[in-house]
Amino acid sequence: MSNPEVFPIPEHVADNANIDLASYEALYRLSIDDPEGFWKEEAKSIDWIQPFKIVKETNFNPVNPTIRWFADGTLNASVNCIDRHLTAKANKPAIYWQGDAPQESRTVTWGELADQINRFANVLKDLGVQKGDVVTIYLPVIPEVIVAMMACVRIGAIHSVVFSGFSAEALANRINDAGAKILITADEGRRGGRVVPLKRNADAAVEHQPTITDVVVIRRTGASVPFTMGRDHWFDELITQANPWCEPAVIGAEDPLFILYTSGSTGKPKGLVHTTGGYLVHTGTSWRNIFNWHEGDVFWCTADVGWVTAHTYKIYGPLLNGATSVLFEGIPTWPDTSRWWSIIEQYKVNIFYTAPTAIRSLMREGEAPVRQHDLSSLRILGSVGEPINPEAWHWYHRVVGGGRCPIVDTYWQTETGAVLLVPLPGAIPNKPGYAAKPYFGIRPVLTNSQGTVLEGQAEGNMCFADSWPAQARTILHDHERFVRTYFSQFPGYFFTGDGASRDHEGYYRISGRVDDVINVSGHRLGTVELESAISSHPAVAEAAVVGYPHEIKGQGVFAFVTLKATVEENEALRHEIVNLVRSRIGPIASPDQIQWAPALPKNRAGKILRRILTRVAANEFENFGDTSTVADPAVIDEIVRRRRQSSHHTVAL
Ligand code: WT7
Repeated sequence: MSNPEVFPIPEHVADNANIDLASYEALYRLSIDDPEGFWKEEAKSIDWIQPFKIVKETNFNPVNPTIRWFADGTLNASVNCIDRHLTAKANKPAIYWQGDAPQESRTVTWGELADQINRFANVLKDLGVQKGDVVTIYLPVIPEVIVAMMACVRIGAIHSVVFSGFSAEALANRINDAGAKILITADEGRRGGRVVPLKRNADAAVEHQPTITDVVVIRRTGASVPFTMGRDHWFDELITQANPWCEPAVIGAEDPLFILYTSGSTGKPKGLVHTTGGYLVHTGTSWRNIFNWHEGDVFWCTADVGWVTAHTYKIYGPLLNGATSVLFEGIPTWPDTSRWWSIIEQYKVNIFYTAPTAIRSLMREGEAPVRQHDLSSLRILGSVGEPINPEAWHWYHRVVGGGRCPIVDTYWQTETGAVLLVPLPGAIPNKPGYAAKPYFGIRPVLTNSQGTVLEGQAEGNMCFADSWPAQARTILHDHERFVRTYFSQFPGYFFTGDGASRDHEGYYRISGRVDDVINVSGHRLGTVELESAISSHPAVAEAAVVGYPHEIKGQGVFAFVTLKATVEENEALRHEIVNLVRSRIGPIASPDQIQWAPALPKNRAGKILRRILTRVAANEFENFGDTSTVADPAVIDEIVRRRRQSSHHTVAL
């Protein structure tokens, strides 16, 4: 992409910018020259119980990194997210909730939230939850998910939210890894007019989890669901009996706030551990700056509560700032394809944050569904989760934003906790597809494969040279993996796993993952995790999974599967494999294409050559690079022949 168009900052944004160009430049300089001084100021946005004396104790040593922020301070997250807004806002809306069906909606005030949180915190205590215990939350996007998270952190328990689209098995793995005591779920969820059997999945997951003592069930649909006496409890019954005040626990800044699982290069999901003080400081201040939020604005982030986007910029960011936000349970295309636009109109949303994959799928519906609605309340648009392609960027900007809203393309990860690269809307003019410039305190570095730092205009591995407060501190039970994955590859730097380029003006553009992770609709899937799910089918001898370009999802899942010698290739088997992946991981991981491969291309050491498979999946049959290491070149010829054939008629599942 050479010389993309530059979009100047619109006047209405420049006029009331929280951060303009001059203050971005001055504050960025300060944040790099004097990170202690900078973050000490930012930390004033938080109410501390015991103020900290030490701001930053960090180094990116490749074998023994240290990441500690505000370590001698104490605070309580729920007090910062809720209590301190009550004097001014007890009767003001915190949340506009809209259910899957348009006629279902609720407004929840700050006072009501506080009441529920305090009561539920007492319930958790009564169930024996103590500081440092893990509580797993498996809920749809309903206000109670916020109540549950905040109740945990009020008493110092650690929440682990698991995406409600994950299967029972995926939920069980995450409960087990965390050793969770309590599971919070709902009778059912609703998505796109369909029922999600949450309690049934939860029951299946808990069946073999000795650590779970109690299951709290929220009545979402009122359906009758199986109930295990003694273990299961109705949320509403517990809440009404509970004491409406719970003294907030005193929590150390470096005590864990939450765990969130994400996929990596091995088969086992990683439970990233985030701690309290640094996360809240970075999250609250960056949310306000990224979205140029002002008192009275209505904010809407469409992410599901199971992802880090929702943790940081849908839940903690708005709550820390006392902002009103929209929570929507459903999907953009039900009951019709203008659902999102009607919600924006209804609640007069000012700031809207979503993912490129959603934009691409709505773009396909044309402009009419958008044009039916008055979106003039919108001021700022955000994008997250994957690189946004210029076509989607322009459509989002022109059709949704009416040409007047900057697009904040926020680059970050589950591991980073909060934003790293972003065009701050009042300071940095947009270039479509560019996550642009470092946030305060962030020191981006590009390295080549030898680890040499590249200067000026360059393309390389996206690394960062110094710590930021919201950074994850470890992988639960596997600190060695944490160090190896992020700090050992390029000594002295945190390595993201992404590739990126930097242009002549210092703008960064992320090109995508360079490790064995694929990004499907903004969700990370580990190829090894997918391969082991597929290989667990009795007919499968071996599988190799790669990402390939997909019009809507960004990347799709392409599986090359070798069947056992005695098994015939057949269509039914394809569907069995897809169903197996859905039940072992969840529908988001469904393979988009399965190609039978009599053998997989390997080197002489037996390692599968994914580089070649990635090209074949993308229908690129030339330039396989160095194939001298391939043990049997005929294997590649056969794979190419089959791919060429299948590209002519559709085999998409
Ligand atoms: C991976 C992190 C950040 C919350 C959502 C995903 C990709 C994320 C961008 C962006 C290009 C992006 C990267 C990253 N990614 N945001 N603005 N531009 N790529 O969190 O599941 O931890 O995934 O998402 O590849 O490494 P996650």
